[in-house]
Amino acid sequence: MKKNKTNQELKQKDIILSITNLHKRYNEGKSNEVHALRGVELTVKKGDMMAIMGPSGCGKTTLLNMIGHLDRRSSGIIIIDKVDTSTLPDSKMTAFRRDNIGFIFQLFNLFPFLTAVENVETPLLLKGLNSGLAREQAKMLLRELGMGDRLYHQPTELSGGQQQRVAVGRALINQPAIILGDEPTGDLDSTTSSDIMALFRRINRTNNQTLVLVTHNRWIAEQCDYIVHMRDGKISHLEQGPFAKKEKKQ
Ligand SMILES: Nc1ncnc2c1ncn2[C@@H]1O[C@H](COP(=O)(O)OP(=O)(O)OP(=O)(O)O)[C@@H](O)[C@H]1O
Ligand SMILES: [Mg+2]
Repeated sequence: MKKNKTNQELKQKDIILSITNLHKRYNEGKSNEVHALRGVELTVKKGDMMAIMGPSGCGKTTLLNMIGHLDRRSSGIIIIDKVDTSTLPDSKMTAFRRDNIGFIFQLFNLFPFLTAVENVETPLLLKGLNSGLAREQAKMLLRELGMGDRLYHQPTELSGGQQQRVAVGRALINQPAIILGDEPTGDLDSTTSSDIMALFRRINRTNNQTLVLVTHNRWIAEQCDYIVHMRDGKISHLEQGPFAKKEKKQ
């Protein structure tokens, strides 16, 4: 009995994200109501790299927005790093999101008038870090991302892949436990996409950070440990990534 309990506790400890019976209705109660998420159940372990796939309109972005708390759920439970987020008052939500979750969007959403290093240091400044330290950390991370010679360029002066690296840097600088990407390589050519995926894998394997990536691309999904398939606002099935299997067997 006791051993079982310990195992259970151990398992709980490894879980970074747990979603139970999550529903999202847009335009709730109106004639144009859309029931976008219909009872999503999902558990993600710390350090997992997970892809979400499914047909257009099945609810992938909605699910990511709910995990990232960019929008309100209609009902259901979301637990991130043991915190039931429904218990957090709005005043604490911004800081919780900033400290625990990093976002990488398809269109990067970089600040156009800020340089690469300014874009990356922004989350640290928002957190109240001294500007000299923030600048040093941002520079260090950008160098790690192979952007050491583009620190003072604005997004329009960078290629798509370079902008993506800046977006990755901005998502990582606070060392969030979970990194969310919505088609993070969507507009990039295949060489740049594979570079970015290699970078994600390195981050995932070295820092044990959890990644959840929405993608339409089967090759990208197969770089992940698990592929979650969605259909009509629900998770239809879970598949293990072939690459992860191979790597773990070695
Ligand atoms: N703000 C909104 N208001 C009303 N309906 C919305 C809103 N956002 C999304 N929807 C609807 O919710 C459903 C799920 O949309 P979502 O954006 O999550 O799909 P998706 O799986 O990300 O699709 P895609 O692969 O095309 O990006 C769709 O039917 C969509 O039309
Ligand atoms: Mg989408």
